[in-house]
Amino acid sequence: MPSVLFVCLGNICRSPLAEGAMRTACAAAGADVQIDSAGTGDWHVGSPPDPRAIVVAAANGVDISGLRGRQVSAEDFRRFDHIVALDGDNLRDLKALRLADATAKLSLLLDHVPRRVGQAVADPYYGDDSGFEITWTDVSDAAAHLVDKLAP
Ligand code: 4NP
Repeated sequence: MPSVLFVCLGNICRSPLAEGAMRTACAAAGADVQIDSAGTGDWHVGSPPDPRAIVVAAANGVDISGLRGRQVSAEDFRRFDHIVALDGDNLRDLKALRLADATAKLSLLLDHVPRRVGQAVADPYYGDDSGFEITWTDVSDAAAHLVDKLAP
């Protein structure tokens, strides 16, 4: 079974939304994919997603309220086939964490979306609710493309 880990900074806004969008896209496609999310930072370990992320997911029929924050670990680089960063800073931090025995392929989420290669999913944490709508659009677009790639 293919596996994918989504990684942002706090694991309470963007990567839980990416996890929720991907779980939904895989279920709709009947694709068996192991999916998780984590943060490069440790401030929100054990915390549920940001309430604004829970609301935007729920508005799109996806329940992410049961997810809990965790920090990415060296073991993740062996456990997951793909580790997908939400922005360039996260990708740089992941490359710095990667040990010699890492097998996971690293990529940027929007590299999987035609015409958005190299772009970041903007951090909505310090903004208003509209930022979370944009995050949802970005992660659900990317999830649709990723399902096709991982479980064609
Ligand atoms: P995320 O957003 O990386 O999309 O989960 C953030 C959440 C928390 C913080 C920064 C970004 N923070 O600084 O606590």
